[in-house]
Amino acid sequence: MTGVPGRARCVARANIALSKYWGKSDDRLNLPAVPSLSVTLEPMRTETVVVLDDALRGDTFELDGAPARDVERARVARLLDGVRLETGLSTFAHVTSRNHFPTASGLASSASGFAALAGAARHAYGLPRDDARTSAMARRASASAARSVYGGFVALPAGHPGDDALAAHVVHPPEHWDLRVVVAVVTEARKDVGSREGMGLSRETSPYWDAWVASAPRMYDAIATALRAKDIRALGPHVEQSFTTMHALAFTSSPSTMYFQPASIAALGALRDLRARGVPVWPTMDAGPHVKAVCHGDDADQVEAALAATPGVLRTLHARPGPGLELD
Ligand code: DP6
Repeated sequence: MTGVPGRARCVARANIALSKYWGKSDDRLNLPAVPSLSVTLEPMRTETVVVLDDALRGDTFELDGAPARDVERARVARLLDGVRLETGLSTFAHVTSRNHFPTASGLASSASGFAALAGAARHAYGLPRDDARTSAMARRASASAARSVYGGFVALPAGHPGDDALAAHVVHPPEHWDLRVVVAVVTEARKDVGSREGMGLSRETSPYWDAWVASAPRMYDAIATALRAKDIRALGPHVEQSFTTMHALAFTSSPSTMYFQPASIAALGALRDLRARGVPVWPTMDAGPHVKAVCHGDDADQVEAALAATPGVLRTLHARPGPGLELD
């Protein structure tokens, strides 16, 4: 193990997709069937430390101060296996990860978690920094994690089956635009149908699957164009349609999955009322009941106040575009 750092720390941030990834073109390589575009969020940080240890007989994984569940440890070990394969080293590692935001907040900690893990693991095992390879490695673990490797506004193209090098890339740096995401947290419970299971069911059973794959690239293009022009009124309706189309797939799957709760509907209504009063704000939602409002920085306080006052909304979180991986 001489000649490698043997230890590394990496910080990555969560991200929210403005244009959604939902469904895979290759399950084995975890390639997305549609392109997606996200914003990396400050201050939703995950910090991960990887320490190699010759005495270990397997990898260990501690999450938020407690040993992680076996399924989580297995996903971490699988990513480390990829690093070991690339380096030729066989040493196992201690992995310690801490989320500096509530994991039940509806902000995917798996995205920041696997991005931070890929960054820390590659460095600890002695690989030179290469964000594209780190992003591809994070993608294999969880496709949205590929985007959290980078800061600002980030795209992950659709993957052609077999394209194992697929990585995300920066579309605009964080300073491009003061776009905000205000999260209305509506439950502290963990979601019951995870994204992976939900998107699998959508592809196998929803009659709308082909329409989604055909229309998602057009929504992506419209979102990318509005983002370039920093035009919230052009951006918002497409952001909304990307998530409603994704949820229509989940809803029309068999068995049906509905991520909405009564408080989600109330929060969507509160945003509609704001828009009727001239405030440019639009919603997005992921595989859970929380509503994420997308607006400009000038309107964020008003949006946050309206969501906080909505019955059923437990609390709000407020994020802005943040940087990519921090590694030491
Ligand atoms: C709804 O990245 O969690 O958040 O690749 O199977 O791990 P896997 O899925 P994951 O899915 C994220 C889905 C989403 C939309 C998005 O982030 O684009």
